[in-house]
Amino acid sequence: MPVTVVVGTQWGDEGKGKLTDLMAADCDYVVRYQGGHNAGHTVVVDGQSFALSLIPSGILSERATCVIGNGVVVEPGVLIEEMERLAARGVDISRVLLSGSAHLIMPYHLELDKVSERYLGKNALGTTKRGIGPAYADKASRIGLRVQDLLDPKIFREKLDVALREKNLVLSKVYNRLPLSADEIARKYLDEYAPKLAPHIADTVNILHRAIESDKEILLEGAQATFLDIDHGTYPFVTSSSPTAGGASAGSGIGPRYFNRVVGIAKAYLTRVGAGPFPTELKDETGDRLIEVGHEFGTVTGRRRRAGWFDAVLVRQAARLNSLSEIALTKLDVLDGFETLKVCIGYRDGDLVLDAVPYHQSVFHRVEPIYEELEGWMTPLSSFTTASQLPPPARRYIEFLESAVGVKISTVGVGPSRDQFVRLP
Ligand code: GDP
Ligand code: IMO
Ligand code: MG
Repeated sequence: MPVTVVVGTQWGDEGKGKLTDLMAADCDYVVRYQGGHNAGHTVVVDGQSFALSLIPSGILSERATCVIGNGVVVEPGVLIEEMERLAARGVDISRVLLSGSAHLIMPYHLELDKVSERYLGKNALGTTKRGIGPAYADKASRIGLRVQDLLDPKIFREKLDVALREKNLVLSKVYNRLPLSADEIARKYLDEYAPKLAPHIADTVNILHRAIESDKEILLEGAQATFLDIDHGTYPFVTSSSPTAGGASAGSGIGPRYFNRVVGIAKAYLTRVGAGPFPTELKDETGDRLIEVGHEFGTVTGRRRRAGWFDAVLVRQAARLNSLSEIALTKLDVLDGFETLKVCIGYRDGDLVLDAVPYHQSVFHRVEPIYEELEGWMTPLSSFTTASQLPPPARRYIEFLESAVGVKISTVGVGPSRDQFVRLP
């Protein structure tokens, strides 16, 4: 059973890209199964940094065919630009396959994402304004356009006219914006984008199943994370797809019986970008230090991330929701030089002590973290390559997280580069 799933266990930006790149060396296929260009996955190879958004992070490994699965929402202009950027740096992009069933992000989705966020005012979600929510909403409403429609101009135009009739009314009457031109959109998508994407469009579901039958190694790369999941995340402060391992099945067309390994990626502390509850958030010098040392600024929007201590309650819940088989802990090096470190092991709600994430969002907004304090380490970790080199307090921190979360940590990240990691026995 050759399928591995990589999922974010927190609120995103855990280092999924780096781990996917690392694992891709042993993979034949790397598949994105949800999300869109709201994702920003940074991979650093030989001092060169690559920011990937729609293309799976396996593209830098020569072996892997990279699949954009049916569960992804695709802005074709962005995908073409990303492919051209990679090609200009010598990356072979003929290995990119795009599911014909993936939905297209259309110009009105971008427009609607921007105006609806503005309209929400102080209740704004802090989306990436990439049209993700509106595109998934149209998918669910069954008025979405799909990648395969690019190959049938007549159907494309019919569907566009149906969708645009409603969108232009909303844009002009509700949001006081200018209506969009169907002719202009059709010209761009059919004349400019379709010929460039056509060679990549494929029946990815059957390609992946044939790969499974030939015992090929497949890795499913999640974007976003467990607590941004539309069902299991901190709704409404979530994205509009299912980044959890369950979503990996629907978004790739591979049934769960084939999943034999689910690797949860967890940052050694915690960050979040955009609005929503965050019990261990640090709005002080310690938080500033995590942001500065960890370079916690969004790859996609450049926004400053919010930072706080590791929340073991959250990751324990992620272990359940994704049936994690192991955890890769990233950015441990960012904690170098702290006298003491805190880990959240429970929450307090008035007199009540909670050992799980409360299902009621109002409770989660008001809980106070209960911390365990651990000794820090003064030695920089970034050059270490073996577990025995890790200073004892770092090892104790890792062991504490393992027992608090209940899942084995298999790998620890000690720097952004592909080779900066330590495998644990
Ligand atoms: P993703 O969205 O989960 O792929 O994560 P991002 O790429 O958005 O954010 C993670 C950031 O941390 C990137 O800039 C990575 O290069 C960097 N990174 C990944 N692992 C490590 C690590 O172990 N140590 C350090 N210092 N940086 C890391
Ligand atoms: P990667 O894959 C961190 C957040 C946004 C916002 C919410 C909804 O790099 O980990 P959306 O544009 O999806 O409708 O925004 O989700 N968000 C992310 N935060 N990392 C991401 O992706 C994210 N993708 C979306 O900031 O709060
Ligand atoms: Mg990211």
